[in-house]
Amino acid sequence: MLKKKQLADSASDDFAEDVLRSLKADPPSISSKWLYDTQGSALFEDITQVEDYYLTRTEAAIFDEAFPALAAMFGPGMAVTEFGSGASIKTRRLLSALAPDIYVPIDVAEEFLQDAAEDLHTLFPELEIIPLVADLTAPYELPAAFTRKKRRLGFFPGSTIGNFPEDVAARFLRGAREALGDGAHLLISADLVKKTEYLERAYDDSEGVTQKFTLNLLERMNKELAADFDIAKFRHVSMFNTQKSRIEIYIESLADQAVEVAGETFAFVKGDRVRTEYSYKYTPGSFAQLLEKSGWHLKQTWMDPKGWFGVFLASA
Ligand code: AVJ
Repeated sequence: MLKKKQLADSASDDFAEDVLRSLKADPPSISSKWLYDTQGSALFEDITQVEDYYLTRTEAAIFDEAFPALAAMFGPGMAVTEFGSGASIKTRRLLSALAPDIYVPIDVAEEFLQDAAEDLHTLFPELEIIPLVADLTAPYELPAAFTRKKRRLGFFPGSTIGNFPEDVAARFLRGAREALGDGAHLLISADLVKKTEYLERAYDDSEGVTQKFTLNLLERMNKELAADFDIAKFRHVSMFNTQKSRIEIYIESLADQAVEVAGETFAFVKGDRVRTEYSYKYTPGSFAQLLEKSGWHLKQTWMDPKGWFGVFLASA
């Protein structure tokens, strides 16, 4: 059964408004959540296939081990919510392994969410699917059909929590704790600190896919915000900030230029940068600390043999 999607209040926030506000801020930035229009989501899928981007395949190998363990732990018929659209192969693998009764995918990208839910519905016709449009960092409520269930699991794969600065990550985790309720579990992935060289290569791959992914944000603004960015006059820059333990990604202007965005003019000097992403890297210890201070108890950790990536099971 596929239910009509539900909209949380927080889902109403607007691309134009958000971009204008954050471009005028000092330092300027654009929220990474806007990277995922249809084109951006497809480009991100391409990134996950790139040799230098070790995250996705490493996580998949860890899931090979973790999913059967979880299935044994929980048994069939539970309620699962995923923070993200549920379009990825890992969703299908989780649903196959756990055989839940209810699945609630939560995402800001409305069209993408609906498409993903329809695809899943053909694959799992018995599963009750209730898509929810919401911003994960603002308050939201899970449907009653979900919260009524005794065994409840939140799934946040992909190390997507890495996009959030620490206060936002903690707010997200507390919000998830609140929405999922007492006795629930959370399965969450985090990319781990490793040699800078490997981290930086993953975010500036030799095939140039990450560059395309970042610059697609300019194309999206051209299409949706009547902007006139000349894509050739900007480049993608990424670096690991050791102090803050995060990859920082910027769009850098290659010239002195003025650009129109949603009816306003922005002047760039050559070398000016607009931040588009943070990707925080944790240690098993720092991630456990973040979970614990956000109302979760760490129950189990899975890692690959090199310790590059972590999958954490926590309980509320
Ligand atoms: C989707 C947030 C996990 O930070 O690794 C990949 C996004 N950006 N390459 C990450 C991303 C550039 C990705 N997450």
